[in-house]
Amino acid sequence: MARFLENLFEYQRAEKVHSGNQGLIPTVDPEQLFPGLFHQNVSLLDLGSRPGGTTFFETYLMACLIKSLGARTIFEFGTFEGRTTLQLAINAPEDATIYTLDLPECSPTTRFDLACPKEASSRKLPIGGLFQQRAESGKIMQLRLDSANVDFEPFRGKVDFVFIDADHGMSYVKSDSDNAFSMLSPQGVVLWHDYGGRWPDVARYLRKGCRKEKTISPRRDLFSCPRTLALWVSDVVHKCCSDDECL
Ligand SMILES: C[S@@+](CC[C@H](N)C(=O)[O-])C[C@H]1O[C@@H](n2cnc3c(N)ncnc32)[C@H](O)[C@@H]1O
Repeated sequence: MARFLENLFEYQRAEKVHSGNQGLIPTVDPEQLFPGLFHQNVSLLDLGSRPGGTTFFETYLMACLIKSLGARTIFEFGTFEGRTTLQLAINAPEDATIYTLDLPECSPTTRFDLACPKEASSRKLPIGGLFQQRAESGKIMQLRLDSANVDFEPFRGKVDFVFIDADHGMSYVKSDSDNAFSMLSPQGVVLWHDYGGRWPDVARYLRKGCRKEKTISPRRDLFSCPRTLALWVSDVVHKCCSDDECL
């Protein structure tokens, strides 16, 4: 009963955020972009949720995307306790690698100001603590650096799925997004968490900055998925779905 109520409140919160976002970039049923997306076997661990963390639906969507893409190289900006990292690892192929990036434990200096400098104090476990003792951790590679100071060159063109969920201020949203685009493989997908709600810079960047600098069309290339996620899909995915069918 407690879990049911928790999920209900979580759903209502996400629904509220989502309704505030409508009209910014097109909202699409993810199954229109990825036919059969929700007809796959995925495994999810009930690890509970935390305020502001990914909802059950968002986690489920990511697990389905990973399966659908057969994503072998995955990159997550923002590990926190590793809740999403673990679910990605559980659903990725055996030979997949999930790189997950978070700040170093004892080096609070960052290239840009953090929008949420006190986030570490809400952690009950160490960074990645939820997956460290699990068998799936063999697929996970933890990186401990400020995301603005990472050398992304070795990842260029190789990453099938990027999840952007680190700092949500404009400087980092822009820097992480630019680096995400530079890492993508031809069929790669980028997913931003917190599109809207508490962190308006994510939506602001996707509406304006990203569009201007990357000549990305928000009508064609960017989609918001129910509920607080935004998604960028490559041309390979577009080939399966014309704009008219999607919007
Ligand atoms: C919202 S939490 C990530 C939640 C996680 N993705 C999940 O789904 O469970 C954001 C994390 O990003 C990290 N972070 C914030 N700024 C960062 C930066 N500049 N570089 C790397 N990690 C950063 C924080 O330390 C925090 O652990």
